[in-house]
Parts: sequence; structure tokens; C-alpha cells
Amino acid sequence: MEDHSKQVSTEPSNPLVDSFGRLHTSLRISVTDRCNLRCTYCMPEHSPAFFPKDELLTFEEIERVARLLVQRCGIREIRITGGEPLVRRDLHNLIARLSSIPNLQDLSLTTNGILLTEQAVQLRSAGLQRLNISLDTLSEDTFKRITRRSGLQQTLDGIEAAIRAGFSSIKLNALAIRGITENEIRRLIEFASGNQMVMRFIEYMPLDSDRSWHRNDVLSGDEILQILEDQFGSIQPITKTDLSQPSEDFLVGKHRVGIIRSVTQPFCGQCNRLRITADGAVRNCLFAQDEVSFKDQLRGGASDTEILNCVQASIQKKARAHGINDTSFEPPERPMYAIGG
Ligand code: 5AD
Ligand code: SF4
Repeated sequence: MEDHSKQVSTEPSNPLVDSFGRLHTSLRISVTDRCNLRCTYCMPEHSPAFFPKDELLTFEEIERVARLLVQRCGIREIRITGGEPLVRRDLHNLIARLSSIPNLQDLSLTTNGILLTEQAVQLRSAGLQRLNISLDTLSEDTFKRITRRSGLQQTLDGIEAAIRAGFSSIKLNALAIRGITENEIRRLIEFASGNQMVMRFIEYMPLDSDRSWHRNDVLSGDEILQILEDQFGSIQPITKTDLSQPSEDFLVGKHRVGIIRSVTQPFCGQCNRLRITADGAVRNCLFAQDEVSFKDQLRGGASDTEILNCVQASIQKKARAHGINDTSFEPPERPMYAIGG
């Protein structure tokens, strides 16, 4: 895929434009709802009923839909998510299939890093370009408190393996949670920056399956900026080059730091994202109350046009904004691990 000479740019015949004029070019594909951690902001403590294996889209099915969306609808970026995507067996085979799609410009993956030690090289060789790795803390005790498992050292080893594997970019993401993140900010930034990675802080969103999210648990972007100013002295905003990117980047001392204000400053107006769940449904938003399943069509011999109609139906129903700050807000029925981060 990095051989740009083979990319032919063509106008999509079936662009994904919603009723507010937003063009969708970025696709997130969840490959499993399972995970090897149990983060309190995402999963319940005890294993929930995961999708039965035969309800997960196969790699062939995912490739078919991805090709269609790239070739006909103008999707240009694909991000693989979970649950934890690396627990899906032979994931590198899917990466190889997707990285061979002409006109796909960016292929990335979000992971908790635990399994990267074994898989980083395989994934990179298969054509994966970029990684986002979740890292909320550098303390083993806090890691256990958040994830209900041990594994900080495995995560750090995974990050090191990823650095050695030579991805074109690795970003570290921490959830910003009041009472936890304040004391981690400095060490996380220094750790990321010391390894040429950008550290990003993401406001905690109401997507936990325990439904215990409370507005007051969100450590807001403004509060993080205040902590950065207190601890590092100077902060300079960096002008965005890609307006659809939710991250606002800052130069903090000599470190580059990103803040994602999903709760206090939603970026729905610029949203260009579409999601496919591991069990074959299109979701037009993390917070959507409904979704359009296309698995039965896929397995019932549907034509490409019928599959595209399911995707367009979902796009046409996309709401203007997620409404987290409205009094009528209801979190989605599917928790984060079953949607894909
Ligand atoms: N709010 C915001 N981000 C979340 N993630 C998981 N749950 C939440 C939540 N409630 C993030 C993880 C990871 C990605 C997969 O999604 O931290 O970075
Ligand atoms: Fe697993 Fe990611 Fe959810 Fe944590 S946030 S439980 S690592 S899917």
C-alpha cells in the first residue's frame, strides 16, 4: 500500500454524505468484542455474553465490505478496533487483505498493547501503518485498579516491540478520569515523548457497561491544560492540518501532547467516521441508538448494491450530534467493547 504509484484516484460513485452534508471517508472496523482486560470505563467485571464466534464477520466478509466502501464510496482510512483486536486469531491475515486494497491511504489499529510483543512485526509486515496504544498509567497498582488485571509490564513490552517494528506512527492514548489521571499526566508525557510518541488524553465518555459514568468523573480538557501549564510552564496550540481530527495538539515544553474533548467540546460537526461492528452492523456514531445490520444480507447472497444500501441507510439516519450534553441523553445500548473504540 505504501507504493503510491499504484494508487489511482477516482471519484467515488456512491459517496457517503449524510443529511447534514458530512462526507464519510474514515471507517472503523471492530473485529471482536472480546478483550484480555476489563477496564472499568468499558467492560463489566465479570465476562459478559460475548458474540458467538459464528456471528463474527469472517475476514473474507470484512474484506468484501471494506473493498466496496473504498472502491465505491470513497473510504480512505480504515482503523481496526475491538474489544481488543489482537485477541482475534490471525489478525495479520486480515491486515494483509485490507492493505492490498487500492486507493486505501491509511490502515491503522487501536490496541491495549498486551499482545504486541508477539504480533507487532507480523502486523507491520502485513501492511499495518499506524498504531494507537492505550496507556492510562505507568503505575502497576493503578493499572490493576483500572483494568482489573495485571499487565502493565506486558503493555510496556508491547510498546517497545511496536517501536522496534517501525510503524510510521505510534500514538499513546490515556483516558482522562478525575482522581486517576491528574497524577499520571507528567510521567505519561515524558514517557511518550522520550520514545518519540505523541501522548493524547481523551475525556471519559458515557460508554461503560456498568453505567457508572458521571459527568464529574470526566477530567476535562480545560483542567488538563491547566495542569500542563502548572507543570510544564508553557503551552502553545499547534494549528490543525486535518480538521476532521478530533485531537487538539499542543506543544508543552518540548513535548507534543493531544487533547480530545469528546465530552466538553464535541466535534460532531466535522465527523467523517462510520463504524462496522464485529457482528456485521453499520453504526453511524459511537452513541447511535440504532444501527443497520447487514450480516444476513452478506450471508444470504446479497449483491454489492444491496450491501451499499444498508450502509447508505445508516448514513442517512446519522444525527447531527451525539447529544452527551443534552438532558435527554441516553447512552447507547451497546457498550464500548461491542462497538469498537
Ligand atoms: N470513554 C472514552 N474512551 C474509551 N475507551 C474505552 N472506553 C472509553 C470511554 N468510556 C477507549 C480506550 C481505548 C479505545 C479503544 O477506546 O481507552 O483507547
Ligand atoms: Fe479492553 Fe479496551 Fe475495553 Fe479496556 S477499553 S476493556 S482494553 S476493549
